[in-house]
Amino acid sequence: MHDERSKPRKLYVKSFGCQMNVYDSQRMADTLAREGFTETENPAEADLVILNTCHIREKAAEKVYSELGRLRKAKQAAGSDTMIAVAGCVAQAEGAEIMHRAPVVDLVVGPQSYHRLPELLRAAEGGKRVVDTDLPVEDKFDHLPAPTRAATAKRGPAAFVTVQEGCDKFCTFCVVPYTRGAELSRPVEKILAEAERLVDQGVREITLIGQNVNAFHGQGPDGAAWNLAELLEHVARIAGLDRLRYTTSHPRDMDDALIAAHRDLPELMPYLHLPVQSGSDRILAAMNRKHGREDYFAIIEKMRAARPDIALSSDFIVGFPGESDADFEATMDLVRRVGFASAYSFKYSPRPGTPAAEAATQVPEEVKAERLAILQKALEESKSAFDQACRGTTFDILLEKPGRLEGQLIGRSPYLQSVVVNNPPARIGDLLTVTITEVGPNSLTGEPVGAGGSERSLPRAEPVAAMEV
Ligand code: 5AD
Ligand code: SF4
Repeated sequence: MHDERSKPRKLYVKSFGCQMNVYDSQRMADTLAREGFTETENPAEADLVILNTCHIREKAAEKVYSELGRLRKAKQAAGSDTMIAVAGCVAQAEGAEIMHRAPVVDLVVGPQSYHRLPELLRAAEGGKRVVDTDLPVEDKFDHLPAPTRAATAKRGPAAFVTVQEGCDKFCTFCVVPYTRGAELSRPVEKILAEAERLVDQGVREITLIGQNVNAFHGQGPDGAAWNLAELLEHVARIAGLDRLRYTTSHPRDMDDALIAAHRDLPELMPYLHLPVQSGSDRILAAMNRKHGREDYFAIIEKMRAARPDIALSSDFIVGFPGESDADFEATMDLVRRVGFASAYSFKYSPRPGTPAAEAATQVPEEVKAERLAILQKALEESKSAFDQACRGTTFDILLEKPGRLEGQLIGRSPYLQSVVVNNPPARIGDLLTVTITEVGPNSLTGEPVGAGGSERSLPRAEPVAAMEV
């Protein structure tokens, strides 16, 4: 009999939401590569489509159903037998509902079961509709194969490594503790081995990721729990690794050791994504954030003392239940005082099963929309001021991909800005020292000042707004 598994097959994975999902999508592709699947960018030619979904806000979660509707139509029109799988946080949160609402789906797999994909797929191929949203006892990372050299090369010189998953903080708006489960840190030796392998395969920049990355407390080789600062120090020592980042952090876990790491590790990029959500103490308490606005200012002050060129980024929610005009004004005040280099902001979205969704004090949609517009304008101005302050400064960029025009390459600044360079004397994967000559809304333009520089001798960009705390 013909062995289905030996047949070359095509896989299309679409990732929604956060970087954790991007990482997980890559791990799923690596797992399925062993089953003969190669990736395609074209869903029409795929034998298997995986939607790796996000449940964080209603809008994000609904996207999966509209995408499934499109896939169903395309599948019918082409008369194809493409298998369709839903993975990620929507799969975890509403696996049975997906099966009910979308008969086109063959397989639902939660984030803790990706290592079981091959067997689940075989069951689905046998005609069964399969749902696996268990939180298994075994460590999925032990069973997820590493990427091949070719896969890593295709993904570019900047890579993610998951060091921690899940969350025990239970912010009252958030589904993550329910979709990703309890906080779990990976052992240090496994993280270092994964990072070393990536660097050996040509990766130059690693971002350590976790829903609560700075709560990291993985077991070290000495048997003791290591914090994120210790982990960063060891990853930074990997020969050939130029840059290091981590995301996403919680203000409560921003300890002195981590702040000192920003002073002491030249590989650690001067950029910190530190979601604050609100500038109002009353709302922060209602969100169960377990810190106040002054605590946030104090962290930033310490951070700027440790690393004066640190650029800051944050997440904000407007229209959380009970948010008054004065609360919102406190958020605006925080934004003006900090001077963020970039930020994400959202209207509060009530999520089923979370405490805040039950509150009687929901804010009307039009108030949310009005506040979001005001906040986004201020954040946009702050970002633009930061970008403008980069004009004339010189720093290294990591060249990541070709630009739109012939001869152009696009790299990332230490502050995660996209920088376009015309005809650079360097290749993708190289660090290139550039001076910023132009500042556009979506990218900067850089002039090379010599091939392959060193971040260590950078002139420091000034913080946009001096903070008066
Ligand atoms: N409504 C709106 N935004 C949310 N976020 C998380 N949960 C919600 C929600 N229910 C935002 C937070 C978080 C980011 C990843 O998404 O700002 O930091
Ligand atoms: Fe979305 Fe959060 Fe899940 Fe990431 S962890 S995919 S942001 S719900």
